[in-house]
Amino acid sequence: MAAEEGQWVLMATGRSPTNIAVIKYWGKRDEALILPVNDSISVTLDPDHLSATTTVAVSPSFPSDRMWLNGKEISLSGGRFQNCLREIRKRARDVEDEKKGISIKKEDWDKLHVHIASYNNFPTAAGLASSAAGFACLVFTLGKLMNVKEDYGELSSIARQGSGSACRSIYGGFVKWCMGKNNDGSDSIAVQLADEAHWNDLVIIIAVVSSKQKETSSTSGMRDSVETSPLLQYRAQTIVPNRVLKMEEAIKSRNFESFARLTCADSNQFHAVCMDTSPPIFYMNDTSHRIISLVEKWNQSEGTLQIAYTFDAGPNAVLIAPNRKNATLLLQKLLYCFPPQHNDLSSYMVGDKSILSDAGLNSMEDVEALPAPAEMKTPTQKSKGDVSYFICSKLGAGPKVITEGTQALIDSVTGLPKGV
Ligand code: ADE
Repeated sequence: MAAEEGQWVLMATGRSPTNIAVIKYWGKRDEALILPVNDSISVTLDPDHLSATTTVAVSPSFPSDRMWLNGKEISLSGGRFQNCLREIRKRARDVEDEKKGISIKKEDWDKLHVHIASYNNFPTAAGLASSAAGFACLVFTLGKLMNVKEDYGELSSIARQGSGSACRSIYGGFVKWCMGKNNDGSDSIAVQLADEAHWNDLVIIIAVVSSKQKETSSTSGMRDSVETSPLLQYRAQTIVPNRVLKMEEAIKSRNFESFARLTCADSNQFHAVCMDTSPPIFYMNDTSHRIISLVEKWNQSEGTLQIAYTFDAGPNAVLIAPNRKNATLLLQKLLYCFPPQHNDLSSYMVGDKSILSDAGLNSMEDVEALPAPAEMKTPTQKSKGDVSYFICSKLGAGPKVITEGTQALIDSVTGLPKGV
């Protein structure tokens, strides 16, 4: 470890997207290695709107591994962090930084400690799979710092040991997590089905649904479902294998009708498994159900599927439109039913705000003038405050290194998070 021993800090910064499953992961066959009972398929979301940024720093002057999430120090003692750190350290290689006069030998990494600072560009508590983006980013960025040369499949298998769905955030576009057969989890990895450019007409609108209720964590919910739900076994063994094949075909041929049918059916079956769990788990709420009904009525009235919906372990709706036209029509219907509480239209839409003007919604007067959706029963209920805000996004790319030093979250001199 050359340079002046103890004087240097070496850093890497990366950014990783979150993802949303269209064929759901629900149930582990191995809790420690995080091995699933079925394959799952997801879409990776645009990192400009939903991502984690992580800086990892190493210095001989750090006495221990430490981590800060959104500016607050958190414990790294949990098994999931330890698994990721251990697996990346195992694969660390020689690192030379000639400019800084730093040379780290492979065997030095076991003695060196890291500081990790991570920041999510969306509310961590909003139930939007922040741990998927977070663990993918941690593994990817540690891998860069430690000059790990393993392929993305191997990285996905390490990210999986932090949070199952994190393995899918290692790639952009459409991603399959293959459950694998091996007991050591070596074949439980993610593969990219198609990149984000393959089907770039898709528009994703997320309704962040207000919820006061403390939700059952996915980890404990999944465990309860595996132990008590007969439907989970049937779904994993009989339904999903077939559905995965059909979904791969729908994605390959950009067949929205089939994509949407499979996505909605799989979301509904996942929530049926939750209801089939003892005691039953309710992730969706009244607002979620009203959004489903709005989409279903529209789909039925047209005779073809206009929108796909999917709900994870929480009440938020993820709505996928085949094109901009359908996304604007959807937004008009949504804003009729769920107008903003604080009459502030601009802060009610996060991400690609231009969808508002595309939908002709430039002011609260425009929202108030919206007609009731023709296919809904009259009078159509309007409720303010049931949706906290919307996010308009699209498919996005996988993890990237950020080279601009200004975007690093750790100070290169102190080795501590900036602003701490
Ligand atoms: N959990 C939620 N967000 C995270 C992040 N950015 N990094 C690690 N774990 C997380």
